[in-house]
Amino acid sequence: PVLVVDYGAQYAQLIARRVREADVYSEVVPHTYSTEQLLAKNPAAIILSGGPSSVYAEGAPKVDAELFESGVPVFGICYGFQAMAAAMGGKVAKTGLREYGSTDARVVGGARSILEGTPDEQNTWMSHGDSVQEAPEGFDVLASTAGAPVAAFANEAKGLYGVQWHPEVKHSAHGQAVLENFLFKGAKLERSWTTGNIVEEQVARIRAQVGNARVICGLSGGVDSAVAAALVQRAVGDQLTCVFVDHGLLREGEAEQVERDFVAATGVNLYVANEQERFLSALAGVSDPETKRKIIGREFIRAFEEAERAIMAKAEAEGEPIRFLVQGTLYPDVVESGGGEGAANIKSHHNVGGLPEDMKFELVEPLRALFKDEVRAVGAELGLPAEIVGRQPFPGPGLGIRIVGEVTHERLELLRRADAIARAELTSAGLDDEVWQMPVVLLADVRSVGVQGDGRTYGHPIVLRPVSSEDAMTADWSRLPYDLLARISNRITNEVDGINRVVLDVTSKPPGTIEWE
Ligand code: XMP
Repeated sequence: PVLVVDYGAQYAQLIARRVREADVYSEVVPHTYSTEQLLAKNPAAIILSGGPSSVYAEGAPKVDAELFESGVPVFGICYGFQAMAAAMGGKVAKTGLREYGSTDARVVGGARSILEGTPDEQNTWMSHGDSVQEAPEGFDVLASTAGAPVAAFANEAKGLYGVQWHPEVKHSAHGQAVLENFLFKGAKLERSWTTGNIVEEQVARIRAQVGNARVICGLSGGVDSAVAAALVQRAVGDQLTCVFVDHGLLREGEAEQVERDFVAATGVNLYVANEQERFLSALAGVSDPETKRKIIGREFIRAFEEAERAIMAKAEAEGEPIRFLVQGTLYPDVVESGGGEGAANIKSHHNVGGLPEDMKFELVEPLRALFKDEVRAVGAELGLPAEIVGRQPFPGPGLGIRIVGEVTHERLELLRRADAIARAELTSAGLDDEVWQMPVVLLADVRSVGVQGDGRTYGHPIVLRPVSSEDAMTADWSRLPYDLLARISNRITNEVDGINRVVLDVTSKPPGTIEWE
């Protein structure tokens, strides 16, 4: 792999993604790894990420000079660049001149090296206080900026390269070209991380792990569980049984997508638990958001366990107990949960709608190495329906937390129709990719006066909550075109009886969360 050493900024994952976009496999490792540990992973190349520290600050993560003599090509970015300079005998200093954001870099000297194919003047994205004043011996200076006399350097003989700016962010105009120059010219790697290879490799791994045993998988209707299940199905066929608990809180058409389209595309054995009534009666009379969430979570686990027992009983009767459970854990979850590699535990993720923790199964996690866009590409490669592969995030508790107030059958129907209209219009405006997700919320406890035809109405409002986001931790409200908003509003108020007002949520996160409950 290409190892991305994480110096504690938020850029390491982004660098790994960009490397994979160049069809090269990469992994993030913590900076606490010793040179020995790094080399033990047999890296094809190493990238040192940016980080918040000054190389001279007390406790700043150090990089061993040893690493740079190992023969493995290394690319230092921002902090990594300075750390490389310091370790190799260059001069790094606090100049008092900080550069943040968009900065012009100028190519200098004759050697273009990793800047080959990029213009003499290029816009880069910077974030630094210290800067490299003198390149170490044997290094060619490739570029400068106003605040950094040495903004990029290379030592071709040793396979060492570095830039002060952040090539991984899209604001650096030629960032991807610089990164690819390092990968393909500097480190002489090949493009081998393609969707076809990912599928082949994962299928082989799953077969090796599972053998002839039986496997169970919960489907939520979302992209992760669907792709994980499809991979396992491809690997071990009928040894897999999928469970779909239909809690009745999905959006229009989603249960059918699982029960009909997913099954048709994969040929998977599907066990459907129709539990709509169970969830509705458990939610009767409840309007507090946390209570609703707890009830839905609890009932989900119970319903899943009942389904599981039914499937287990059948499997045991056939003499082949179930030994494995599939989970759709993704790579960012692995990195953020510490990855088992000693990194800080930022948060522990729960996947597949909060399955029981006292699991008696061994886990199969075929998406553990993948980013979300790779999961979608794998899903498409496996022939899954576009509606599933392209689906935007949707919360486990579903429409249950998009009705502000008590959840009833009638209210679910209203919200489902309004939501279907809003989604259809967003799709036909071609904006699905620009909008991270668009919750549609029914304010069931609010009524307002309106006029329709010749009469007074006293109906409920629908809230549109379109947001753009990178990772759902922060978000901004999407500036949807007024024409589109007008169409959605007209259609919902005309077509959904009982809704007489459509409002737009213009709150970022923070302070608002994406969902209303
Ligand atoms: P908030 O509302 O916290 O949502 O800003 C952040 C993201 O998480 C989704 N979300 C959930 N997903 N189970 C889930 O699987 C949940 O209980 C849940 N609550 C919120 C939300 O849709 C958004 O993408």
